[in-house]
Amino acid sequence: MKEQQLKELMTVMTLEDKIFQLLQLLGSFYQDTPDLVTGPKAKLGINDDAIKNAGSILNVRGADKIKAIQKSYLENSHSKIPLLFMADIINGFETIFPVPIGLGATWNPEIVKKSAAIAAKEAAVSGVHITFSPMVDLVRDPRWGRVMESTGEDAYLNSAFAKAFVQGYQGTNELLTEDNIVACVKHFAAYGAPEGGREYNTVDMSERTLREYYLPAYKAALEAGAKMVMTSFNVVDGVPATGNKWLNRDILRNEWDFNGILISDYAAIKELIDHGVAEDENAAAKMALEAGVDIDMMTSIYANHLLDVINKFPEIEDDLNESVYRVLQLKNELGLFEDPYRSANSLKEKELHLSTEHRQTAREVVSESLVLLKNDNQVLPLKSNQTIALIGPYADSTSLSGSWSFSSNQESTVTLKKAFEEYLDEENLFIATGSKVVETEFLESSLGNYFSPEIDMQIDEEKELKKAVEVAEKADVLVIAVGEHYLQSGEGGSRANIIIPQVQKNLIQALAKLGKPMVGVIFSGRPLDLREEVSQFDGLVQAWFPGTEGGHGIADILFGTANPSGRLSMSFPYDVGQIPVHYNEFSTGRPYQQSNHSKRYTSKYVDIPNKPLFPFGYGLSYTDFSYTNFELNKEILTQEDRLTASIDITNKGTVKGKETVQLYIHDNIGSVTRPIKELKGFKQVELEPNETITVTFEIEEKILRFYNRDMEFISEPGEFEVMIGPNSEINEKKIFYLKDK
Ligand code: NOJ
Repeated sequence: MKEQQLKELMTVMTLEDKIFQLLQLLGSFYQDTPDLVTGPKAKLGINDDAIKNAGSILNVRGADKIKAIQKSYLENSHSKIPLLFMADIINGFETIFPVPIGLGATWNPEIVKKSAAIAAKEAAVSGVHITFSPMVDLVRDPRWGRVMESTGEDAYLNSAFAKAFVQGYQGTNELLTEDNIVACVKHFAAYGAPEGGREYNTVDMSERTLREYYLPAYKAALEAGAKMVMTSFNVVDGVPATGNKWLNRDILRNEWDFNGILISDYAAIKELIDHGVAEDENAAAKMALEAGVDIDMMTSIYANHLLDVINKFPEIEDDLNESVYRVLQLKNELGLFEDPYRSANSLKEKELHLSTEHRQTAREVVSESLVLLKNDNQVLPLKSNQTIALIGPYADSTSLSGSWSFSSNQESTVTLKKAFEEYLDEENLFIATGSKVVETEFLESSLGNYFSPEIDMQIDEEKELKKAVEVAEKADVLVIAVGEHYLQSGEGGSRANIIIPQVQKNLIQALAKLGKPMVGVIFSGRPLDLREEVSQFDGLVQAWFPGTEGGHGIADILFGTANPSGRLSMSFPYDVGQIPVHYNEFSTGRPYQQSNHSKRYTSKYVDIPNKPLFPFGYGLSYTDFSYTNFELNKEILTQEDRLTASIDITNKGTVKGKETVQLYIHDNIGSVTRPIKELKGFKQVELEPNETITVTFEIEEKILRFYNRDMEFISEPGEFEVMIGPNSEINEKKIFYLKDK
């Protein structure tokens, strides 16, 4: 449709038509299409008219289903403007990839882009137009369950992944193709910093921290072209994001020039009342619209109250028109006025979903996402002449996809057992479950209505433990597949104690008594406190929730077909008492290491170390890399030119391997205190044994900028340290000076 026609359409729409365009309802309202009204409308307080005319639907999938809903909608709605279909496609659609914290551990934006492109293709043929992804919230507290959906603790790395996700979903051109879906970046803003790691809790941070660390990844997603943004549930400086004009109009629209759609998170407009900033539903409607929120996800606030609000405050109609026009523009960009069914195609679903090619990519992504945390006595890779006992509740589990994708195609998921059987002869492999994933009482008490016996493991615990020990006795090496339940992370999955559930710890203890070499494969949606396991296991592999090809990808690493290259994108704490613990902490007046004060009066704990158990950027390989000849090509950097930092990386081992070379910078003196180091670049290089590659990084004034004392985003002349190494704990430095203008 031409812009002129869109404008004309606006003139023939009634006020009600317009308001309904801003309503988004769940697919469950429409699943039995004929009369379009099947959902829990009483609970939502919504009438049939609103349901018949809502502008968009969330979380329905399937080409035939979506086509039927669209068809019936076009027949029954008043304005006959096609519906938008949106869904949470977080780490894959049918072919499930590792959860985002695992994708973050690849440190490979290109492969993440590829995974997002596959998700887009699979979703598009199933009729989905928009995904509520990427979640780019920066995270520093692993107690928060949604760290699972983040790529980690660093603004630079998160920004690189934000861009990769968006380009994967939307493509790199302005125009969307039939293989693309629209990316909705979320949750704007700072949802990743709830106090105490407790879901939906208050966020409180300085504007400096917000702008410098939390905002960059949203901005990067928008610069990559993301056409939608979702608000967050939390407050930002006391004002809930969904009613926050400063955030959504001043920053998002005015500073950043964002012209796309802003959607509320689920029920967030109504929650303005619970936050205690809106006295009633009318006030909530007015506050959200004035703050620039276009679509109301799953409440009746806009649908039931905007008319009244506009009657009382006629000037608000302009905001309404703006919002509606944005919705129409996106429908138009997707080509829905010409073809309301767009790419939905049930034949193509069969061809594309879980195709061999998609599975192969997923398998590679899994291997790249695994982080080898420990490998004493070269217990890994496993040797083909060894007998192996594969034990644990994850040994033969299909629950490998994390909490967003657990229901999709569990039966297509490759379990560890299946993959091990492809690697080993029957007589060399013994299998046992050993324990439940988690105590049933935990599931009952923490999940309430969501608890269903199917998500519990029905096993005779005593018998299983006995069997596990028997099986272990027969083997040379034990591979123990343990971790959290997938419902212990994800939305609403905050935990105070981020340990492997006690039932599994009992299993590990029983097996450790045998004194055999033990390799732990850890499944989780977050960094866990693995202190105990580090002392029990010879080898440890962090496997996250790896998705459909989990078994294969993990086996490829364990048997050495692939060499581990994953690096942590979030620190693993030594103890929950350290949280938040992140590599880019600020300089303090009494640093633990170099302070003049007596040891007691330095910044430290008296009972645990300051350092995390495993730092940001950390991960081992089956080979060793050396870093030599670190050089800067000059000492003085001017405002206009560039400085080159270079280093030689040599593969000192006997197998090919991939190294992630990381560049960190420290601004020694600033008008405000600066972090002790900040990631400013990284490069992955693959090296044959004995091969050496020179890796170079360009440093320019632009990357040295920060918010100064007056909140200007500038660089300050002076002394800087450059560090290049394999993780954030490197200390070898070179110095350069940034010259004044
Ligand atoms: C609430 C979550 O916070 C958000 O991330 C998600 O997209 C919506 N629900 C829709 O499912």
